[in-house]
Amino acid sequence: MFSQYLVYSATLLGLSTAYATPRGTVPDDGFPNPNPQQLLSIEQQADGLLSNLPPPPTLSQAGITNFQLIAFNENLEVSFFQEIISNITNHVPGFEVESSTYSEAALLEVLKTVKAQEELHAITAITTLQNFKAPLVPLPCTYDFPSTTLEEAITLAETLTAVVLGTLQDAEQSFAQNGDDGPVRAVSSVIGQEGEQNGFYRVLLNRKPSEKPFLTTNVAAFAFSALQQFVVSCPFDVAQIPLPIFPGLSVLTAPEARDMYLSFSADLSGNPQVHEGSDFAGLFVTYLVGQQLPISEPIINPKFDGGVLTFDALFPFTENIMSGLSIAALTNASNFANADALVANTLAAPGLIQVNDPLLPSSKASNYSSSA
Ligand SMILES: *[C@@H]1O[C@H](CO)[C@@H](O)[C@H](O)[C@H]1NC(C)=O
Ligand SMILES: *[C@@H]1O[C@H](CO)[C@@H](O)[C@H](O)[C@H]1NC(C)=O
Ligand SMILES: *[C@@H]1O[C@H](CO)[C@@H](O)[C@H](O)[C@H]1NC(C)=O
Repeated sequence: MFSQYLVYSATLLGLSTAYATPRGTVPDDGFPNPNPQQLLSIEQQADGLLSNLPPPPTLSQAGITNFQLIAFNENLEVSFFQEIISNITNHVPGFEVESSTYSEAALLEVLKTVKAQEELHAITAITTLQNFKAPLVPLPCTYDFPSTTLEEAITLAETLTAVVLGTLQDAEQSFAQNGDDGPVRAVSSVIGQEGEQNGFYRVLLNRKPSEKPFLTTNVAAFAFSALQQFVVSCPFDVAQIPLPIFPGLSVLTAPEARDMYLSFSADLSGNPQVHEGSDFAGLFVTYLVGQQLPISEPIINPKFDGGVLTFDALFPFTENIMSGLSIAALTNASNFANADALVANTLAAPGLIQVNDPLLPSSKASNYSSSA
C-alpha cells in the first residue's frame, strides 16, 4: 500500500508518453470558451463571479509569461479534476469513495466546485493574455495522469497544488519587479483559494491541514518543467512559452523525517556540457524549502551511464525542519542568494519531495490516509 512518505518526480510518476492514450476529459460546460449562459453555470458551481475590474493598463513581457504559465497550469488542473470527477461518477475501480467523513455526493460536490473555480482562474489568465495580445495564449492540451486510485489522485492534487502555491509566489515577485501592480490583488486571492483546497486534500490524506509556517517557494521554470510529464500533446508549440524545460530530477529513495542520503537520477543526455569525463564533483542538490535560502548539498557516488547520472546527496531534514514539500534541483553552483538565482545553474529539476507524518493512527483516519 501507500508509504506515508510520498515522492513525486518525473520518472516515479511513471508516465510513458510514447504509449499514452488521450482520454475523453473535455468538460461539457463550454470551457475554455463558454457562452454567457455556460459561464453563468460555471460561476454558480464555483460559488462566485469572475472579476469585473477593468484590466490593468499595462503588462510587462515577464507579466505575459507569468500568465502564460498560469493558463498552462490551470488548463491542466481543469482536466485533472474533470477526470477525477468522471472516474468517481463512472465508478472506475479504485475510485470508490471510502471516506468515513465524506459521502460520494459530498466529495463530488467539492471537486465540481474546485473544477469550476479552476476554470475561472484559467479564463482569467486567458482573457488577460488576449487583452494584451500575447503572442501565445495556451489552450487546453491532452494530458495523461499517472494516478489509478482516488488516494493517488488526491495525493497528486496535493503535490501539484503545493507546487502552484510556490510558483505563484514567484509570479508575485516578478509582478513587483516589473511594475505590474495590476494583477497582484487577484493573484493573491487565488493563492489563498489554492491554500484552502490544499488544506482539504491534506485532511483527506490524514495530514495536518496547514503544511508549514511559510510555504515552500518555487520558480516558474521548475513548475513549467514539472508539468510537462503530464502533457501528451498541445494545440500550440509549448516551446513558445519563454521558460526553460529542464530534464526531471528523479528521487529514487523514499524520504523520511530524519537526516538521510537520498538517491537521485537525471537524464542529462541532452546536455552537451555533460559527458563521461565531466567533473561531477562540482555538482550539488539544491533544495528549496519554506522561505529558507536555497540549501546546497554536494553530490556523492556519481555514476554516469548512457547519458543518465545517478548520485546521492544528503537530505538535511533536522536542521531545516523539511516537513511538507521540498523542491530539489541538480545545480553546478551553491550559495544561491535566492530561488530565482538557481535557474541559470540548474542541470535538472524539479525533484518533488514530500515528508508528512500521518496525523491520526490510520485505523482512526479516513481511508484516504496513507498507511505505512
Ligand atoms: C477503511 O476501510 C476498511 C476496509 O475497506 C474498513 O474496514 C474500515 O472501517 C474503513 N475505515 C474508515 C475509518 O472508514
Ligand atoms: C482515471 O482512471 C483511469 C483508469 O484507472 C486512470 O488511468 C486515470 O489516471 C484516472 N485519472 C485521474 C486523474 O486519476
Ligand atoms: C552551469 O550550468 C549552466 C546551465 O546548464 C551552464 O550554462 C553553465 O555553463 C554551467 N557552468 C559551469 C561552470 O559548468
